[in-house]
Amino acid sequence: MKVSVPKEQAQGERRVALVPEAVQRLAKGGIDVVVESGAGLEAGQDDAAYEEAGAAVGDGFGGDVVAKVAPPTASELVKLERGSVLIGFLNPLGDPETVRALANAGVTSFAMEAIPRITRAQSMDALSSQATVAGYRAGLIAAQELPRFFPMLTTAAGTVRPAKVLVLGAGVAGLQAIATARRLGAVVSAFDVRAAVKEQIESLGARFVELDMGLEDAETAGGYARALTEEEQQRQRELLAEVIGQMDAVISTAAVPGRRAPLLVTEQAVKNMKAGSVVVDLAAETGGNCELTEPGQTVVRHGVKIAAPLGLASTMPDHASSLYARNVTSLLELMVKEGALNLDFEDEVIAGACITRDGEIVHEGAKKAAEAPA
Ligand code: NAI
Repeated sequence: MKVSVPKEQAQGERRVALVPEAVQRLAKGGIDVVVESGAGLEAGQDDAAYEEAGAAVGDGFGGDVVAKVAPPTASELVKLERGSVLIGFLNPLGDPETVRALANAGVTSFAMEAIPRITRAQSMDALSSQATVAGYRAGLIAAQELPRFFPMLTTAAGTVRPAKVLVLGAGVAGLQAIATARRLGAVVSAFDVRAAVKEQIESLGARFVELDMGLEDAETAGGYARALTEEEQQRQRELLAEVIGQMDAVISTAAVPGRRAPLLVTEQAVKNMKAGSVVVDLAAETGGNCELTEPGQTVVRHGVKIAAPLGLASTMPDHASSLYARNVTSLLELMVKEGALNLDFEDEVIAGACITRDGEIVHEGAKKAAEAPA
């Protein structure tokens, strides 16, 4: 079985799907890798490093399986051969056009974000590995943009109070943002609508913010948050506006799969913050948690800096690629038997991650998204 790794074409994409370490591991399972020249450069891996690990340098779209990071661009789509297998982030719920194109092209596609988040598939969980990177970077951006120290300092010139940081949404990215802000010495508090995370927040040395929302627990069977009702959201926004007003920095990461990000930080909340305070909105990708967010931009509103970075994982391409490559390698190992491609659609992970097959969209969520009016 041959896996090819193209150089990513999407704008701003600096990651690569497989790194040399992964090439070595795959070779043990009888999987050959062909890497497009320069594919790993931004992640710190040159062609020679791949060759040393046993890969060939050649056509990035030629194998049985094409391993990518970002969803295919138009120019990448035409290079995918009918009957070939594509693995990568495909944004199956948010990008129906690409999903339709993959079905029409006869590509069997697997979305990393659709891999069921069950214990057995944890090593393939690229949402988690990349959210870890994004959460860490968000913590650093908040520290960098704030015109104050994060830690408490006692100096000859006097004492400096530590920064107060609020993290909204304590999933994978949020917990990493909490840990990062704590390591830098900030006083951190956090809020999530899933009751289970209270303990996790506290174990990182942060305070769980109790909001009197009359909400028991908004966790669904799948472990994700449910969308709140309009009334619940309104109440949450009002209560948060007061808490936010006392913060130096807010890092927001709240998301509900397949939906626009919940609006948590209102314009009034931003007005309540001191001039020079910072909001880092990690939910910008799905519309943002802050009312004043402009995705991809950093703006100053009412004296508050609102950063809404996109593609944060790509800003740390070395480790982001290494972790992603391990996720992809684990999935590939599930797809190979005695050195040959063997897709077992009885397997819950293979079936769950499959988006298109035999010219059809087979993933329920992706099908619904593709059928919905634009
Ligand atoms: P996500 O990116 O979908 O959401 C981020 C966070 O926002 C979540 O913690 C969610 O509860 C929170 N949120 C949603 N609406 C909110 C609101 N109105 N106010 C405040 N917070 C709100 O989630 P992520 O990080 O991808 O995963 C969340 C959970 O999924 C994990 O913590 C875990 O329970 C589960 N999971 C399970 C895994 C497994 O292998 N079993 C692996 C990874 C995650």
